[in-house]
Amino acid sequence: MRRLLTALALLAAAVPSHAADVDGKSVFQKNCAACHMPNGKGIPGAFPALAGNTFVVGPAQDPATVLLKGRGGMPDFSQSLTDADIAAVLTYVRSSWGNKGGALTEPQVAALRNEVQAAHYTGGQLSNKH
Ligand code: HEC
Repeated sequence: MRRLLTALALLAAAVPSHAADVDGKSVFQKNCAACHMPNGKGIPGAFPALAGNTFVVGPAQDPATVLLKGRGGMPDFSQSLTDADIAAVLTYVRSSWGNKGGALTEPQVAALRNEVQAAHYTGGQLSNKH
């Protein structure tokens, strides 16, 4: 019984509770971990750590703008990730590895796209290639 409960708890933890059906962790692993590393610690001197990063957990529009516009060596994800993907991945990044930033919603990202004038991504199928 206890084992079953543990299994259920693990399952529940694996199900994202945000941004519809998108799993922020898997978006991160596919699109971000190559540079920022699966543990969010990045590579000193090349890719900034997202773990323990005050910019990342600050006002949500700041990291979201970096994803929508790109910045320096950071790619622009506005044409490869949907608003739901961006909301989910940032919610994951802001609440993982000890980070304690708030969640982001899909409508917030959609509004921000208009603000920063990044075109809406409507491409249906995601290739997850950059
Ligand atoms: C090709 C490598 C690469 C990939 C892939 C990548 N990043 Fe970055 N990221 C960078 C670099 C380099 C910077 C620093 C940019 C600069 O110096 O202005 C950065 C900066 C950032 C910042 C700002 C950090 C700060 O302290 O200002 C955030 C937030 C961020 N990335 C999140 C992500 C997320 C989320 C993903 C996946 C959707 C991602 N990155 C994918 C290379 C990458």
